[in-house]
Amino acid sequence: MKATILGATGYTGMVLLRILAQHPRITGITASSRTMAGRPLAEADPGLSRSTLEKGCLDPIVRSPAEALESPGDVLFSALPHGASADTCSPVLGKTLVIDLSADFRFSDPRSFAASYGTPPPQAEFQSRSVYGLSEWNRDLLKNAEIIANPGCYPTATLLPLLPLRDQIRRETPLVVNALSGITGAGKKEKTNLLYAERTENATAYSVGRQHRHTGEIAEQLETEQILFSPHLIPVKQGMLVTTTISVRDGNAAVAALEERYRSEPFVTLTGSAMPETRHVRGTNHVRIGWQLEGNSLILVSAIDNLWKGAAGQAVQNMNIRFGFDETEGLQQEADL
Ligand SMILES: NC(=O)c1ccc[n+]([C@@H]2O[C@H](COP(=O)([O-])OP(=O)(O)OC[C@H]3O[C@@H](n4cnc5c(N)ncnc54)[C@H](OP(=O)(O)O)[C@@H]3O)[C@@H](O)[C@H]2O)c1
Repeated sequence: MKATILGATGYTGMVLLRILAQHPRITGITASSRTMAGRPLAEADPGLSRSTLEKGCLDPIVRSPAEALESPGDVLFSALPHGASADTCSPVLGKTLVIDLSADFRFSDPRSFAASYGTPPPQAEFQSRSVYGLSEWNRDLLKNAEIIANPGCYPTATLLPLLPLRDQIRRETPLVVNALSGITGAGKKEKTNLLYAERTENATAYSVGRQHRHTGEIAEQLETEQILFSPHLIPVKQGMLVTTTISVRDGNAAVAALEERYRSEPFVTLTGSAMPETRHVRGTNHVRIGWQLEGNSLILVSAIDNLWKGAAGQAVQNMNIRFGFDETEGLQQEADL
């Protein structure tokens, strides 16, 4: 099977390249970038090992987006920024499976997209043809999808513990979500606030309350506006830890619902009162979920790697589901130390 990656020089594109290069079903990969088009892949991504480069499945030259879109193969992964992604993919929409890692196809209500992103959703005629790619929750729809909207990293880490509890949550009080993200969550951008000297030994909250774009995505999936979402940047490269406090009708029933729903999910580990740590999921497609019950308040803690389960790993999981492969193929890595 052949795959193309748009945005292959960005953080999620680079992780996609590494996962797909070792994936047993993938026989050809084209990496695309605007700035590195025409250059050797070994130069664009010097971290790829010689044995990977010499395996023969990687096109040794980085292609421009236009060249890559001429023959995208069986699946096109778009790791481009929102706003650019859907329009760049437009020549192949409806013809080739597109797995879009941006927000461009994530909303079913165009008003929610506009409220979060300030413009109407791009490629309007294809919006209703996309499937929200939270793998554990949309398998049946994903099997026939022509466009897969890969979820955001914060929404993935927030929704996975909350979705099994939808019927248990008391909606009168807001869901309070505090999220910590590694710096790669912001992408490979030249911005002052992402400089090493700004971020090391430093932590900050940003876009708190209802200001962050991912609040709308989470709200749409949970069908509630009652969310206070406060993201924080912490001085680590990759990793995401989300703590959510909810009020539930019956704490023990809520915990039982969580345990029942995830009993046999290969990428979900419930840790109970042992609190999850980002290092235990780093470089993997796993999510770890722990909790503490305090009366009717349930505190949920979830850890993912933002570049894996939060982006590239889940995108490959979705590809596996879509093509009927074992869901864990190519995704059996153990956590980095
Ligand atoms: N980082 C995360 O943890 C994460 C998690 C979930 C989802 N996502 C989403 O995944 C996508 C990629 O994120 P990322 O963190 O990998 O970003 P990134 O590191 O900034 O990389 C994006 C790549 O896209 C290309 N690009 C940038 N602007 C473009 C434009 N206007 N038109 C075409 N190509 C453009 C750039 O490569 P060239 O300039 O070389 O073409 C760049 O390397 C984004 O939509 C992001 O929201 C990211």
